[in-house]
Amino acid sequence: MNTQPDYDLLIRHGNVVLPGDVRRVDVGVRDGKIAALAPELPGTARRTIDASRKLVFPGFIDAHTHMGIPIKDTRSADDFASGSVAAAFGGVTTILDFTVQQPGQSPRAALEERIALAQGNSHVDFGVHVNITHRPLDHLDDIPALIAEGFNSFKLFSTYREAGMMSTWPEVRAVMATVAAHDGVVLLHAESNEIVERETERYVNSGSTTAICHARSRPPEAEAEAIRDAGALARDTGVRLYIVHLSSRAGLEAGLAARAQGADIFLETCPQYLVLDESRYEEPGGYFYITTPALRTRADGEALWEALAAGEIDVVGTDHCPFTREQKESAAGVFHLTPNGMPGVETLFPLLYTYGVAEGRMDAGRLVQVLAANPARIFGIDGRKGALIVDHDADITIWDPVAETTVEAPRLHGNADWSPYEGMRIAGRLAYTILRGQILVEGDNFTGEQVYGELLRAPATGASSVRTEP
Ligand code: URP
Ligand code: ZN
Ligand code: ZN
Repeated sequence: MNTQPDYDLLIRHGNVVLPGDVRRVDVGVRDGKIAALAPELPGTARRTIDASRKLVFPGFIDAHTHMGIPIKDTRSADDFASGSVAAAFGGVTTILDFTVQQPGQSPRAALEERIALAQGNSHVDFGVHVNITHRPLDHLDDIPALIAEGFNSFKLFSTYREAGMMSTWPEVRAVMATVAAHDGVVLLHAESNEIVERETERYVNSGSTTAICHARSRPPEAEAEAIRDAGALARDTGVRLYIVHLSSRAGLEAGLAARAQGADIFLETCPQYLVLDESRYEEPGGYFYITTPALRTRADGEALWEALAAGEIDVVGTDHCPFTREQKESAAGVFHLTPNGMPGVETLFPLLYTYGVAEGRMDAGRLVQVLAANPARIFGIDGRKGALIVDHDADITIWDPVAETTVEAPRLHGNADWSPYEGMRIAGRLAYTILRGQILVEGDNFTGEQVYGELLRAPATGASSVRTEP
């Protein structure tokens, strides 16, 4: 007699957020994949989870993290081990990180280095965007082979000249043309370096170095101008362009105008631009909030929320780049010397659920688009990630929307010993995070010590340019 159970895991009676629908179905998991989705699934399972009164989501994707990267003579405080545990406690089962290309190093060598750091350390699945920050024109020939091997996204910076990371617009154009010819995606950190350098120098020379000068020296117009320039190049070259960490209404309008003029442009914003504003810089310790681009006004945040709900912004990623209190304090509050970046991966979904779904700004289906389906599609991993459908990886996040909690830094799991969101209300509590059928987090417990993430590659057909409306 065959005594094998039908499923390894059966999730019963949850409200499951499916593409386009929330339905009361059971989820059967076998061999790391979703094997069945149906009401009252018949059959037996090795383990059953009762998800009554809970929401069942596809595992979330954070398309923008920086684990252990060098910034201003220090390194962001999470490595792949600590950052991925934080991710798991936030319901994130896939992170897309970035290479760090050293001067004289090829993008491929930097990619191999980053993969080696993540492999056997990350407890969630991971992909890697390829930064091209040094001598882009010398490395154009590497791009086709990297795309053929499944690394289809290339990141450029229109600023950070002083850190040696900036590409000129002719260099951006050349990379875009090559990436477009091979069906990849260009990501861009879009700020006008000219404006940023001029304004930074002006504040520093006048002896104004407090945290608010960070926002004043990197104004929304710096973002808008760079997006306008990049949008024109995207239209000319036909590349798929993904603007990272959009922060302002002016930047949004520039992005939408470029799209209307025919650029194939995706927009990503981050929780910090949705739920925080620049008044934080005026608080004692305001320099803790120094991140690039800077925090903006409440009106900017509201414009971003509206664009998210309307389907104009495609993705919410975090730009997770944490520094400890000690690191943040190392420059005694001087804005341009403070390491820039903040933690975010663990609070991504809880904040978006609370201030988006629970407060009525978007529905759960839209949240799944921007935190799972869209990043999966844009970066070409939608054959296995981003939706609860049969044969996809069984990456599942189960959320109890009834429990009220608050963000408290000591209860978070990354290496930053503070949170920008301290004390903020959260409409619910994480119940389970499941990666390819393996339980990573159960309530307050991490059960994934022996579970390691897989490297994700995009099939050579590349990413999809089809944008979805909400
Ligand atoms: O200030 C930030 N965001 N640090 C991380 C690097 C970047 O620009 O994304
Ligand atoms: Zn950036
Ligand atoms: Zn970033």
